[in-house]
Amino acid sequence: MTATENPAGCTTKTAAPHGAGRVFIFDTTLRDGEQSPGCSMNLEEKVRVAAMLEEMGVDIIEAGFPIASNGDFEAVRAVAQTVRNSSVAGLARASRQDIDRAWEALRGAARPRIHTFLSTSPLHMKFKLQMEPDAVHQAVIDSVSYARNLCPDVEWSPEDGSRTEHDFLCRTVESAIRAGATTINIPDTVGYAMPDEFAALIRMLFDRVPNIDKAVISVHCHNDLGLAVANSLAAVGAGARQIECTINGIGERAGNCALEEVVMAMRTRHDRLPFDTGVDATLITRASHLVSTITGFSVQPNKAIVGANAFAHESGIHQDGVLKNAQTYEIMTPESVGLTKSNLVMGKHSGSHAFREKLRDLGYTDLGDNSLRDAFVRFKALADKKKDVFDEDIVALVDDAVMRGNDRIRFVSLQVVAGSKGPQTAELELIADGMTRKTLAHGNGPVDATFNAIKQLFPHTATLQLYQVHAVTGGTDAQAEVTVRLEENGKTVNGQGADADTIVASARAYLHALNKLVVKREKTAPAAMSA
Ligand code: KIV
Ligand code: ZN
Repeated sequence: MTATENPAGCTTKTAAPHGAGRVFIFDTTLRDGEQSPGCSMNLEEKVRVAAMLEEMGVDIIEAGFPIASNGDFEAVRAVAQTVRNSSVAGLARASRQDIDRAWEALRGAARPRIHTFLSTSPLHMKFKLQMEPDAVHQAVIDSVSYARNLCPDVEWSPEDGSRTEHDFLCRTVESAIRAGATTINIPDTVGYAMPDEFAALIRMLFDRVPNIDKAVISVHCHNDLGLAVANSLAAVGAGARQIECTINGIGERAGNCALEEVVMAMRTRHDRLPFDTGVDATLITRASHLVSTITGFSVQPNKAIVGANAFAHESGIHQDGVLKNAQTYEIMTPESVGLTKSNLVMGKHSGSHAFREKLRDLGYTDLGDNSLRDAFVRFKALADKKKDVFDEDIVALVDDAVMRGNDRIRFVSLQVVAGSKGPQTAELELIADGMTRKTLAHGNGPVDATFNAIKQLFPHTATLQLYQVHAVTGGTDAQAEVTVRLEENGKTVNGQGADADTIVASARAYLHALNKLVVKREKTAPAAMSA
């Protein structure tokens, strides 16, 4: 029997069903996560997310698919050069060209990993690859040995592994290990597996593959049936020691296994899942906020661990219980995932020194002087308008200031006429390429008028795909955090803006997206650049 204390302080006594062990966390937010439609991140954003993942203690960060585009290649290279403590992985299909490109992007990493994959299920081999099983088997050997000659750390994945015939799966896994793979990752690519079935598949590999002990067994589960976390945990119970996952569970279709959920499940139910990760769970809330802000994929309020309601107690009976003893309705403490009680920070009399200290407490240790100055000016303006300034306000404001960076088009001022009488108008002033521009535009409401004003000052053909508003804290004087998604010639970008005035936040978010689009245009076709 073992006695285990979970983070909420409850002590439970049970027989530990499996041996204790360390589970590696492989985060693929920047690769599989970024494959979600509309979820594009630029290079700076990817480096910020990677830095956050490294700070959290994620073991392996999959930074992208270098052959997919020049943008992906540059982002993987930048992440590889920045991250020092986590391994950095790049994805490659089973071809020399893919593997060479991945290695070129990764070679500056302190701990590079090439992740190569090939489909092994009958369906994928016949219709997608149009290859016979023997040819697939040979391609696995060739690609893994080629990768291993370049990099000492090689992961191989049989795509659609959960729907692969067992004999063939065992044969390819054994050969991949013999060819030098140090990690074997079994994907449930289409999210089809059931937990008991997936655990049995992992056990089957341990029973039948003679050299299985020479590699770490990993799992990569998609969430099409809402089972990605359950399947990953079942696989760990069967011997897997690496989980591939993403922040907030973003990813292809219904997403991937959510990092925050598997990590907290293993911590909270350590009595049933006696496994440890290297993740500092108190950074989960910050990482979740960062990823949702950058991608524009907001988290549903009832999402486990990171949803706005995950630790809220609405009913009187629950509130009464929690006040008497938090464990009555809380299996984890909010603090254990970094959710601090809303702290009243500073008022309008606080100086820049106190502001700097506050930022350090909130984890912003490497802000440049310009971002810091901009954030402080905006903090003062906010403190003038808003009675109480909370930690969340500071986070929204600083994230916004950091993102402005080298914007070519900058917001100066906005005056709107709103209300039922109409016409709604927006008088906007901005600076584009160092020149001040002003205009007055009409619209179907103040947001529409504001976006029309931007179009008048900076004509463009991009279309609005998403407009989303989120209140940073409670109260009618709360700051608004706005996300705007623009699309032009098949390329999408997300922009964010925060302000106590929702329309100003909307203008900032639109301009942020537009700035990113301009940068994208400049990179792909300098001659086509126009304003
Ligand atoms: O879902 C999948 O099969 C993948 C592989 C590339 C690991 O993402
Ligand atoms: Zn996947």
